[in-house]
Amino acid sequence: MQSKSWWIFLNFFVGLFNFAFAGDPFVYYDWTISYITASPLGVKQQVIAINGHFPGPILEATTNWNVVVNVKNDLDEPVLLTWNGIQHRKNSWQDGVLGTNCPIPAGWNWTYEFQVKDQIGSFFYFPSTNFQRAAGGYGGIIINNRDVIPVPFGTPDGDITLAIGDWYAKSHKDLRKDVENGVDLGSPDGILFNGLGPYRYDSTIVSDGITYQVINVEPGKTYRFRVHNVGISTSLNFRIQNHNLLLVETEGSYTVQQNYTNMDIHVGQSFSFLVTMDQTGSNDYYIVATPRFVNSKKASGVAILHYSNSQGPPSGPLPDLPDDSDPSFSMNQARSIRMNVTAGAARPNPQGSFKYGEITVTDVYLLQNRPPELINGKRRTTLNGISFFTPSTPLKLAQQYNILGIYKLDFPNKPMNRPPVVDTSVINGTYKGFIEIILQNNDTTVQSYHLDGYAFFVAGMDYGVWTENSRSVYNKWDGVARSTTQVFPGAWTAILVYLDNAGLWNLRAQNLDSWYLGQEVYLSVVNPEVSEKTELPLPENAIYCGVLSSLQKDQAQRVRFSGAPPVSMLITTVFIAFIVAFVGPLMS
Ligand SMILES: *[C@@H]1O[C@H](CO)[C@@H](O)[C@H](O)[C@H]1NC(C)=O
Ligand SMILES: *[C@@H]1O[C@H](CO)[C@@H](O)[C@H](O)[C@H]1NC(C)=O
Ligand SMILES: *[C@@H]1O[C@H](CO)[C@@H](O)[C@H](O)[C@H]1NC(C)=O
Ligand SMILES: *[C@@H]1O[C@H](CO)[C@@H](O)[C@H](O)[C@H]1NC(C)=O
Ligand SMILES: *[C@@H]1O[C@H](CO)[C@@H](O)[C@H](O)[C@H]1NC(C)=O
Repeated sequence: MQSKSWWIFLNFFVGLFNFAFAGDPFVYYDWTISYITASPLGVKQQVIAINGHFPGPILEATTNWNVVVNVKNDLDEPVLLTWNGIQHRKNSWQDGVLGTNCPIPAGWNWTYEFQVKDQIGSFFYFPSTNFQRAAGGYGGIIINNRDVIPVPFGTPDGDITLAIGDWYAKSHKDLRKDVENGVDLGSPDGILFNGLGPYRYDSTIVSDGITYQVINVEPGKTYRFRVHNVGISTSLNFRIQNHNLLLVETEGSYTVQQNYTNMDIHVGQSFSFLVTMDQTGSNDYYIVATPRFVNSKKASGVAILHYSNSQGPPSGPLPDLPDDSDPSFSMNQARSIRMNVTAGAARPNPQGSFKYGEITVTDVYLLQNRPPELINGKRRTTLNGISFFTPSTPLKLAQQYNILGIYKLDFPNKPMNRPPVVDTSVINGTYKGFIEIILQNNDTTVQSYHLDGYAFFVAGMDYGVWTENSRSVYNKWDGVARSTTQVFPGAWTAILVYLDNAGLWNLRAQNLDSWYLGQEVYLSVVNPEVSEKTELPLPENAIYCGVLSSLQKDQAQRVRFSGAPPVSMLITTVFIAFIVAFVGPLMS
């Protein structure tokens, strides 16, 4: 009896070590989310900052590192941060969406802890609740290669993160009220670069006194630009005057390296470009992000590329935008983005051992959206006629505590011939199944869709209605694995996903207005052999809410931030684990 419990203890802690420690380093962040006043478009407004900065700090780690982020909520409403593109392997508890986590109440803090297992690349984080992304709160994530895996290009001379996105003068609270009441977002008031408004490239369009982003560079050098569309609903065309964009990576896939003069970046997408400062002129150059596929006014975001030997401002008009009326340009550009199948990433040569085009599909889901419509008198958006209702008890907690009636595992695998409903219906995924999801966009605007917990292969996209025959145009060889894909209006995009990551995962429209009105679903992936090897246990610091609120202990309203020294914290943890594992059993 005694020796058995000893073994259980020992195995438990060996398990813990395998999971969290295993020699993989930790990186710690202490973040306070609060409002600050800023004037991105020249007029003061309230924005969401992290540690007083808008955008927030860059979270940087290396493949397999453990990331600990203690988030203090100094807003006046609940918040969750989500980590767009981070897969949280075996650990949807850290995903930071309302289906997996209770929101962090105003005045409270909560510590995320996750491992960036088997990932490299460029991602970003943002607040996932209450339309807050419209007020900021976002920042870049960089996951570096381990030293043992070569990067398929020379080390750049610098690394530059650009968070680009549409921006509104209205507060996120007013915007969400508008969206609920059926008032369209309308065209944005501006496009920001890293929280800053446009350079005054045209005095009739841009008002005076706006602070803009300047990127300082040295002639002849090559920089990696990580560009994220952090906006709420606008696709952006990104370009740098007189400079090629050598595409090298997108959301964790190294791509076939190709030069582009411009790139359409849809809401929630991330790209890395190498840009060589090969111009011999004596001026600065424009860096531009212009709304795509909107009929109304096109206020571009404009930053400045400043060579150290530059003598003056950029000259000439902004570089040309592709023709908006040509629907094939953007789709062909998207199809041209392919994976470099010989490059290593988180592991050596990932594609060599994973030929997605040869795997038998086990489940097919055709998910069709529709333009917003009234359901029970409320404006809602749907997938397959279901508008997601977010219960006050996170689905993941309900699953953990076997509380029935919070959600149903009955999401239909094709559009239903019935009136739309508001419901909490979840896709029942098969653990280690290989699933094909076709996203059919029946709305009139570009939508992008994001899946948490995974990278999916973008197999194909085309205009028209998807049919079985559409599979004949799939790219079964070198489609990129990413986590956000665009779906053009009146078109479809097909993705393939290997469901090897147990957990409950959010599939959502990245366009915040569509998402807010219900265009999301969760994918439940359960290993029938329950084991901590495939899914981590409920974290000890889990917040309880909804029907489980009574389990929640009060948190002192004003938590003092000690800025605990990370190393001593780690040593303490290891020490306690040691005592419990070895000394505890001896004493009983
Ligand atoms: C809140 O922050 C304190 C101080 O840094 C920390 O000790 C505590 O674990 C945090 N609480 C949660 C729930 O993460
Ligand atoms: C693909 O990656 C390999 C291995 O790192 C590299 O040698 C090659 O140049 C890359 N090819 C392209 C087209 O990017
Ligand atoms: C991309 O363009 C740069 C010039 O800006 C050039 O030096 C490089 O060879 C081009 N690369 C490819 C793969 O076309
Ligand atoms: C979900 O799928 C699993 C197989 O992966 C099956 O055993 C289970 O019965 C399904 N649950 C429901 C509620 O349909
Ligand atoms: C949406 O679906 C309707 C009915 O099937 C069809 O007539 C219409 O063309 C579709 N619109 C788009 C943008 O796909």
